[in-house]
Amino acid sequence: MIKIVAIFLLALMAIDSAQSAASWSYGGSDGPSTWGSNFAECAASNQSPIDIQHSGSLVDGRLGNFALSMFTAVPPTMQLLNNGHAYITGGYTISDSKVLPGNYQALQFHLHWAANGSTVGSEHFLDNKQYFGELHIVHVNTKYPNISVALGETDGLAVLGFFVKVISTADNSAMEVFMAQNRLQAVAFEDATSNQVPFALSTIFPADFSNYYRYQGSLTTPPCSEAVVWTVFREPIIISQAQVIDFSLYQNKQNAPPNLLIGGNYRPTLPLNGRVVTRPSSELKLKPLTHTGPENWLNSYDACGTMSQSPIDIVHGATVADEKLGKFNRTTFTAIPDKMTLLNNGHALQVNLEGGYTVSDRNVLPGDYQAFQFHLHWAAVNQSRGSEHWIDGKQYFAELHIVHYNTKYASIGEALTQHEGLAVLGVFVAIGSETNENIDLLLNPIAQIQQYNQQMIYSSKFDIGRFLPEDLENYYRYSGSLTTPPCFESVVWTVFNEPIYISRAQVI
Ligand SMILES: *[C@@H]1O[C@H](CO)[C@@H](O)[C@H](O)[C@H]1NC(C)=O
Ligand SMILES: *[C@@H]1O[C@H](CO)[C@@H](O)[C@H](O)[C@H]1NC(C)=O
Ligand SMILES: *[C@@H]1O[C@H](CO)[C@@H](O)[C@H](O)[C@H]1NC(C)=O
Ligand SMILES: *[C@@H]1O[C@H](CO)[C@@H](O)[C@H](O)[C@H]1NC(C)=O
Repeated sequence: MIKIVAIFLLALMAIDSAQSAASWSYGGSDGPSTWGSNFAECAASNQSPIDIQHSGSLVDGRLGNFALSMFTAVPPTMQLLNNGHAYITGGYTISDSKVLPGNYQALQFHLHWAANGSTVGSEHFLDNKQYFGELHIVHVNTKYPNISVALGETDGLAVLGFFVKVISTADNSAMEVFMAQNRLQAVAFEDATSNQVPFALSTIFPADFSNYYRYQGSLTTPPCSEAVVWTVFREPIIISQAQVIDFSLYQNKQNAPPNLLIGGNYRPTLPLNGRVVTRPSSELKLKPLTHTGPENWLNSYDACGTMSQSPIDIVHGATVADEKLGKFNRTTFTAIPDKMTLLNNGHALQVNLEGGYTVSDRNVLPGDYQAFQFHLHWAAVNQSRGSEHWIDGKQYFAELHIVHYNTKYASIGEALTQHEGLAVLGVFVAIGSETNENIDLLLNPIAQIQQYNQQMIYSSKFDIGRFLPEDLENYYRYSGSLTTPPCFESVVWTVFNEPIYISRAQVI
């Protein structure tokens, strides 16, 4: 019988073997269905993993966001271990009552993944979907003297779980730090250990880790202690198919046949039994910005200081032609929304749309994107330049942003923080000689919303297509962010090359 194909806590191994010499595995006569007979707590009612249903989870306004800065400390030492294998970190401590109910010190992290030839191996499911793998970072509540005591308390451990998803193209270079083939070869067989050059866990996290699910559960391996405050993040860590093939770790010692690859080391999901899964609010929390300039955003909005921010100065000579990108279909934009509300949001003029059109053409956008608002950024009084993007060092008078969300997400608030959750079409506005009657339709009621937060509902609605340039074929595409706080890097940007024009009289 396979003795250990699990990946579990190094620190818990001692406790486990002290309590019981019973063997367990992920298949056969000592598989998960039998764990309860040798380890009583495995048969209890608050067990993990579970199938998380987003629609069944409740918003808990007290839950805050984890910050990347919680995970940037580099541990003094790290070690790779095949026990299954666990990666041990000497850790940082998270002390933020908005995200965890105590001070939790990191102990170790480990992976669960699919069997050789299978594509699914995560422990938790999200909306009935199982991922390729799952990374667990295990923390202990520092108020308990040791792990044996912590295991007897419902808040004894905190585990952060990240799904691991396989997309066949590029390797995840951050994960290569420990997943590279030569690294794993060093621990190919049972009980092998290898020193790992320490790294900060923040380097392997996905871009968004503010969306998560919280519930009370257990260790997913015997002794199945119901001591875990679970956090399961929505956005997966992405790895490549090539990295999966590198996972050549064996269940037994080198000369102990049959030596099978480790994999499929996940416990089947268990019922909630009345437990509640909660999540932080993902509603947009824009603050009034009337007196706050861009230079101050970094102080209060973490994401505004990250790497893939917008806007940018697009240098045409440095762009790369992508044959897969097609022309936007003008007909899409002729639909008239059900309701349009003009709003002074404090930093731009915004129109909220109800019943907006959806762009569903994969030649132009990577999903189905529904329009929900558009807004205008423009030059300050007596200034001639106010666009956000620049092209080849040139700034235009204004820029219109038409904002869409990916309808695969349940709400705008949810899409907002997801990679490719939003798609924004950017249209430059230049000063020309003729009156633009379309812009007049938009701007005529502007006197009614001079004050911050004032709004009005348009009595006659109009289509968005009238604000697009003639040329819907030449545009620039890149991955970026919202251009205002909270600056989430969730935007598929399209910036049209051709501007639309308004007259100087319309500006003054
Ligand atoms: C993994 O699976 C492939 C295809 O099913 C098989 O050819 C290969 O021998 C397996 N590797 C091991 C080490 O079992
Ligand atoms: C853990 O702490 C408790 C209480 O201080 C003590 O009784 C127990 O022996 C300790 N266990 C271990 C394994 O150190
Ligand atoms: C544009 O969209 C309309 C309406 O969906 C469709 O009838 C038409 O065939 C599309 N045109 C092209 C060129 O795809
Ligand atoms: C804008 O320019 C006009 C004409 O030069 C001037 O009278 C006015 O005071 C200026 N406004 C601001 C806010 O600078």
